[in-house]
Amino acid sequence: MIGIIGAMEDEVAELKKSMEIEEVVSAASLSFCRGKLSGKEVVVVRSGIGKVNAAVCAQILVDRFGVDVIINTGIAGSLDAAIDIGDIVISTDAVEHDMDASTFGDPVGQIPQMDTFSFPADEKLVKLAKEVNEKANPDIRTWTGRIVSGDQFVSSSEKKEQLISLFDAKCTEMEGAAIAHTAYLNKISCVIIRAISDKADNSASVDYPAFEAAAIRHSVRLIEALVPEI
Ligand code: ADE
Repeated sequence: MIGIIGAMEDEVAELKKSMEIEEVVSAASLSFCRGKLSGKEVVVVRSGIGKVNAAVCAQILVDRFGVDVIINTGIAGSLDAAIDIGDIVISTDAVEHDMDASTFGDPVGQIPQMDTFSFPADEKLVKLAKEVNEKANPDIRTWTGRIVSGDQFVSSSEKKEQLISLFDAKCTEMEGAAIAHTAYLNKISCVIIRAISDKADNSASVDYPAFEAAAIRHSVRLIEALVPEI
């Protein structure tokens, strides 16, 4: 069973429209839509914004629906000058950038007493998502690399530069690493697929609404093509 999480209603609305919905299950104030997408059994859900909402949602997908794959879709701010608005980033791993126990000697991002710094994506899913996207969105550039997440919409050059120097990440958003963390604890596969909606700097709030809709369209097209291949 494949779970698909988007943080905002806009991000999952298009997927829900393309689905044959079989049931809607309510749990933890969330609505889980189970049914078929491109012929495959899936559960599509809007998690709400931020790491806690995302982690709660992912754990319910595991416990109630027995998902063994989670795809997190949505939009993100670019952390690399080469990665432009409209491009797609597929995660190789994810880090919670606002975890900071550096007082005790841990690098920023490291969760104390965990055996990993970053939460890896499933290598086969990453490869598959890249191949599928090159066919589904031939005009869109696809990148793979680290994604960082925090409970912060990044819209200043200072914060952006800090994230770049600490994490060498491709983009930043607010849920992916929490979902990858939950997948890691439950030993299931996951991948984060994000379309770039802004540059995560002073221009972010201006660009954001204009590019959000196009970014969502690209990630939905990719998910619809990817699901039957899993
Ligand atoms: N999602 C889309 N753009 C973002 C940004 N700049 N920071 C955090 N989350 C985002």
